[in-house]
Amino acid sequence: MTPDELLPQIRASGDVPRHVAVIMDGNGRWARQRGLPRHLGHREGMKSVRDTIEGAVDVGVEILTLYAFSTENWARPPQEVSALMGLLQLYARKERAELRKQGVEVHILGELERLDDRTRSAVEGIAEATRGGDALRLNLMISYGGREELVRAARELALRVAAGELDADEVDEEAVEGALFTAGLPDPDLLIRTSGERRLSNFLLWQLAYAEWHISPVLWPDFRREDLYAAILDFQRRERRFGRVPSP
Ligand code: FPP
Repeated sequence: MTPDELLPQIRASGDVPRHVAVIMDGNGRWARQRGLPRHLGHREGMKSVRDTIEGAVDVGVEILTLYAFSTENWARPPQEVSALMGLLQLYARKERAELRKQGVEVHILGELERLDDRTRSAVEGIAEATRGGDALRLNLMISYGGREELVRAARELALRVAAGELDADEVDEEAVEGALFTAGLPDPDLLIRTSGERRLSNFLLWQLAYAEWHISPVLWPDFRREDLYAAILDFQRRERRFGRVPSP
């Protein structure tokens, strides 16, 4: 079905998820199937990023969180790491004006101190240039790992306790949440993973506690807004219970 056919169905089916998180997987396989080098799969994936953002804006998602580069990805061959860094720089340069026009506010979350200077300043530049956009908040998770994020949060809270700013008894869910990269944001309602894999891969370990999962068979470079809309329709069919019993 086309996006124009799916949109009214979504509107008629209830609430749209406020926060959608995506594990963009399958770029390498997409390239291999075509006899191309892996980096061309990542490059093609940029088109999917663009279309998914536009689709999210049109359907009324408030927050879109994309897993662009994990802490584990640093262990890929150096040529692939540098191709991905180059792509992030290209994306930041090419898309900033358009994202600003669309009202997309970009946030870069992760261990940014591990990025080289050029990549870091490019991605910080896109965040700066899009500040104040109110159509969609886009979180690009770069050099991000869920365990590392929790370790950082634990360390930060421990330091505050040691400094006497915080009592150990005050270390509760709210305190941990406030020390994460995503502090202050609602948790994702929907997690989409492409390419058929069923793994969390160290993504948003805390925040995805109650998210609904949608596994799409589509490889990321082929993913388009109609696939996002199919995931949202799937989400709307679920009954979210947050560990409680169904309402009568
Ligand atoms: C996983 O595919 C994808 C990545 C490691 C990178 C995701 C990056 C992009 C989509 C590039 C553009 C992103 C932005 C935000 C500009 P894989 O390489 O693990 O695929 P495979 O499992 O088929 O090998």
